[in-house]
Amino acid sequence: MAPLRRNLGFLRRWLQNPKAVGAVVPSGRSLACAMVAGIDLEAPGTVVELGGGTGNITAALLEAGVPSNRIAVVERDPGFARVIAARFPEVTLLQGDAAELRRLLRDAGIGPVKAVVSGLPLLSIPDRVCLRIIAEAVEALQEDGVLLQFTYGPASPVSRRILTRLGLQAERINWVVDNIPPASVWRYRVPQRVSLQTQQSA
Ligand SMILES: C[S@@+](CC[C@H](N)C(=O)[O-])C[C@H]1O[C@@H](n2cnc3c(N)ncnc32)[C@H](O)[C@@H]1O
Repeated sequence: MAPLRRNLGFLRRWLQNPKAVGAVVPSGRSLACAMVAGIDLEAPGTVVELGGGTGNITAALLEAGVPSNRIAVVERDPGFARVIAARFPEVTLLQGDAAELRRLLRDAGIGPVKAVVSGLPLLSIPDRVCLRIIAEAVEALQEDGVLLQFTYGPASPVSRRILTRLGLQAERINWVVDNIPPASVWRYRVPQRVSLQTQQSA
């Protein structure tokens, strides 16, 4: 499917369900690359993408050299899931809800997970559901794993309440001006895991 057709399909789904899609156009190449730049490409483990949409972040993962058998894409919308399956038949597609992440991974026999890369529209998801999704992602991560999320907003898309509740450390690692609209990339991890890593490498 040509990029223009994919983008029109994306826009159509946004018109049908703006809150679930959360953006009028898919992430641009710079944003997709900025998300991938937050991953340790040398580390072992699978990369899980939440909310694959039309697959621009999946494409950037493959382009950066993440092996296709180390990528799993979670997408709830059946239309988007069909696009991902057709565009990347070699990647594992988990059609379902990110709030059920650990069950989806368990059923597919996937793990350990070194990074969760999320394009979910967190700002339009109720905080209670957001807590569940972020908790699932963090629990799915291996010891030194990271959660990456982009946002069009000025602050962390994961609320302070959720950060405190889950004991997460948040850091804005990139600002992509040439995306439409401009977006920030945030990285989340569990500090105990970070300090454990630091102690081990000291
Ligand atoms: C802003 S789009 C991002 C698409 C793509 N990753 C990109 O960056 O262009 C959000 C995507 O998340 C999906 N989505 C929303 N809520 C979801 C959920 N609870 N579980 C899985 N996918 C979800 C939507 O269907 C949509 O494909």
